[in-house]
Amino acid sequence: MMAEEAILGYLENHDEISDSGQFATDCGLDHNDVVNVIKSLHGFRYIDAQDIKKETLVLTEEGKKYAEKGSPEVQLFLAVPQEGSISKEELQKLLDPAVYKIGCSQAAKNKWVQMGNQISRKVQHVEDRVKDLLLQIQDGQELGKDDNNSLKARKLTALQTWKGYSVKRGPEYAPRRRRTATDLTREHLQGGDWRNIEFKEYNFSAKGPPPESGHLHPLNKVKERIKNIFRLMNFEEMPTNRYVESSFWNFDALFQPQQHPARDSHDTFFLKAPATTKQLPEDYVEMVKRVHESGGYGSRGYGYEWKREEANKNLLRTHTTAISSRMLYALAQHAKQQSFTPKKYFSIDRVFRNEAVDRTHLAEFHQIEGLVCDRGLTLGHLIGVLQDFFSRLGMDKLKFKPAYNPYTEPSMEIFSYHEGLKKWVEIGNSGMFRPEMLRPMGFSEDVNVIAWGLSLERPTMILYGINNIRDLFGHKVDLGTHQEKPSMPYWN
Ligand code: PHE
Repeated sequence: MMAEEAILGYLENHDEISDSGQFATDCGLDHNDVVNVIKSLHGFRYIDAQDIKKETLVLTEEGKKYAEKGSPEVQLFLAVPQEGSISKEELQKLLDPAVYKIGCSQAAKNKWVQMGNQISRKVQHVEDRVKDLLLQIQDGQELGKDDNNSLKARKLTALQTWKGYSVKRGPEYAPRRRRTATDLTREHLQGGDWRNIEFKEYNFSAKGPPPESGHLHPLNKVKERIKNIFRLMNFEEMPTNRYVESSFWNFDALFQPQQHPARDSHDTFFLKAPATTKQLPEDYVEMVKRVHESGGYGSRGYGYEWKREEANKNLLRTHTTAISSRMLYALAQHAKQQSFTPKKYFSIDRVFRNEAVDRTHLAEFHQIEGLVCDRGLTLGHLIGVLQDFFSRLGMDKLKFKPAYNPYTEPSMEIFSYHEGLKKWVEIGNSGMFRPEMLRPMGFSEDVNVIAWGLSLERPTMILYGINNIRDLFGHKVDLGTHQEKPSMPYWN
């Protein structure tokens, strides 16, 4: 670098550069380049630099014009004919309006022209002193006090602050910049260079690259939020860590008849190996068989021959209600042996259905399930719990529509009004578990269960404005957009 060599080289033989501006001029360098090098060398303590400020006189834009074209008074004088006179109007046409105006007053003051309707010369020769003075300033020459004042009064010159440096050798001075190493390499170590190498200092205030970090999937964010709602409502989480279920717990225990279309392989994934379950609670199986075949507890049952082979078939659970049936059976056993304890249970986990995949359906999804088991529960309790649960998610406007499930009566579909979409959105299914389901488990007549279920995907898609389920889940998901998604979007 030219400026760097010049500065360090000069300081090798001189104590000081007293004025960086003068130095730049003497070396034929641009002062800005010199200043940049001074700042850098000062930073590395090769030199000590002190600010110097100088007030210099420079020409204003108007001053620059007159330095080039002559002062207005001379321009005006030259426009007046040597003999005779010229009318004001004629003269005005020949000159720039500002030049005419200023020229008239200055030329009259100098007694160069006779003013009136007709203008004529009073002298034959004039000198353009103003122009000469302006040129001298441009040239960097000093003027006398009076000249300076008169130019300043006419706003042809102005003071400008000039900034530069005076420079001396610094504590780390060297005639040439040392090359500093940024890394200690194998070669440095092997060759012994490391002994003499100067290492670049760490810049501890430099910004580092943003760290790579993991991000929660939107489904996990919404899942955690819903789990927290359940926890706040004092619900216990059910253990759902089993994707494989027997048809017995998934369907039979739920009073779902063995001919029901949902139990067809078109709707349900059955397992090839192991194809059947090893163990079922035999006493309870007997009760379930009886209620399917001939009813009881005020029910007529379905009146068909219930087959154990059907119940034994293993499948990927089609709903987490299979877990609810296991948990309720265990609770009823506990009640029989000790005493009945009311329970509030929830779960959020994966379920599987043999469905055609489209923009809103996948063959697997997550189900949210909640239930309350207590004495004397009514449909009013169910509606109240649903209002409480969904309003905590931001869904306060609910509507219910009668529906049918083999295991609940009455059953209700749940709708929520979405202000953004301006429509009622179906968000879940609910009901009161039938006596045909609860009584064979061993619950007494006065114990009821209110329950509801919904998919985790549907509210997540609405909350995040995702229209295609494949943008939410599966191998086509764009991880980048998931990173940017806020953690707590709000319904509506
Ligand atoms: N199991 C139901 C479903 O898959 C949801 C549900 C759970 C309905 C509990 C009523 C009661 O849609």
